[in-house]
Amino acid sequence: MAQRSQWGTRAGFIMAAVGSAVGLGNIWRFPYVAYENGGGAFFIPYLFALLTAGIPILIMEFTIGHKYRGSAPLSFFRMKGKGAEWIGWWGIFVSFVISTYYAVIIAWAMKYSIYSFNLTWGDDTGGFLFGDVLNLADNPGEVGGLVPGVFLPLLLVWVIAFVILLAGVKRGIELANRIFIPTLVAVFLLVVIRAVTLDGAALGLDAFFKPDLSKLADSTVWVAAYGHIFFSLSIAFAIMITYSSYLPKKSDITNNAFITGFANSGFELLAGIGIFAALGFMATQAGEPVSEVASAGVGLAFVVFPKIINEMPGMNGIFGFLFFFSLVLAGLTSLISICETYIAGLSEKFNISRRKAVLFGAGSASIISILFATRGGLYFLDAADYFINQFGVAAIGLVEVFLIAWVFRKLKVFENHANEISDIKVGLLWRICLTFVTPIVLGYMMFDLLRINLM
Ligand code: PHE
Repeated sequence: MAQRSQWGTRAGFIMAAVGSAVGLGNIWRFPYVAYENGGGAFFIPYLFALLTAGIPILIMEFTIGHKYRGSAPLSFFRMKGKGAEWIGWWGIFVSFVISTYYAVIIAWAMKYSIYSFNLTWGDDTGGFLFGDVLNLADNPGEVGGLVPGVFLPLLLVWVIAFVILLAGVKRGIELANRIFIPTLVAVFLLVVIRAVTLDGAALGLDAFFKPDLSKLADSTVWVAAYGHIFFSLSIAFAIMITYSSYLPKKSDITNNAFITGFANSGFELLAGIGIFAALGFMATQAGEPVSEVASAGVGLAFVVFPKIINEMPGMNGIFGFLFFFSLVLAGLTSLISICETYIAGLSEKFNISRRKAVLFGAGSASIISILFATRGGLYFLDAADYFINQFGVAAIGLVEVFLIAWVFRKLKVFENHANEISDIKVGLLWRICLTFVTPIVLGYMMFDLLRINLM
């Protein structure tokens, strides 16, 4: 059997893990989630979730990949036999679905980065998105027919992904992340600096950080914090297991997990500052409170931000370009990580070359993604995203942690494995987080979701 691929350097692995974690979620999801769930007060449940679930699970997944040296299904197979393989496939399935629509969003961001220079979207940015870009205006709800303008950027996204994935772990994924991540940080810093120097920025920051302590008594705020940490750190998606399976034997797992976790949160905080500073500017221009303009997701990036860019005094084309370019870079590094889960899974399961696995795996994802680039594709995208967020992430996380802690009883083994090679030692506290805190919170989360959805 061919020698297993490996990361070239420690920094390369960390860049790749951070690249996976830092994605669209950090830029367009976190600021709004924090704002809606208590502003400054949200940092308490957020930090709690990071320290009791996010980083402990990251350490666990890094240990699994490093110890069993396989894609997610193979790692679970080696951990507990044939009957455990499905846990890995479940994560891979969710990753596959996400990759099909994540690519489309990156394609829109590419388009918008070019539009920025001419402010092509005009004054009615919402009408432009739904009419010109998504082709929904005439017959809302109608489905089918390719939207021509999105096809080319989508093709470009997949070509870039293919080139990187085909080049392999070290010469492809590692190299790309070593270039993309520092570039992203530099570009995004420029965006944030410009945003905080805008008129009214303080108003936005005030809204973002103002702590609403009463929210801490609300269980949905805690659930939001845990949910966000899972999505943001890309845990329970088979990704971190796959990436850590390429670690050399001598690697500091625990330290790497802390660095990845804190780097991701640092970026998220920066995004919160930048986004809300810009929203403060927007609110000031419109003479409205920040709550009127605050939003997240597609609406924030492709409707509100173009408006902000329209209103900006000077250099707005460049600001717009840098903002959308940040989305492209953050998105691409996450997309690559999601694709790698099924590429590794397929090539090991069916004993095929990396090339074949890329062509088959990413090939089919790219074909399916065309569906989201058709008229009405936004509805599929919304539905897929909702489904994944509601039932994918928390459910896999719960099952994975519960089985490992309570059924396979592997935590002690993992603890020894991690401690042997890491500077920071984990112990009882780590096991308590995974045995009790995470299953209880996630269990409650699932219960709550089912209750909401079934009633
Ligand atoms: N962590 C990424 C983000 O914050 C999202 C992601 C989720 C990426 C799942 C890959 C897989 O946007």
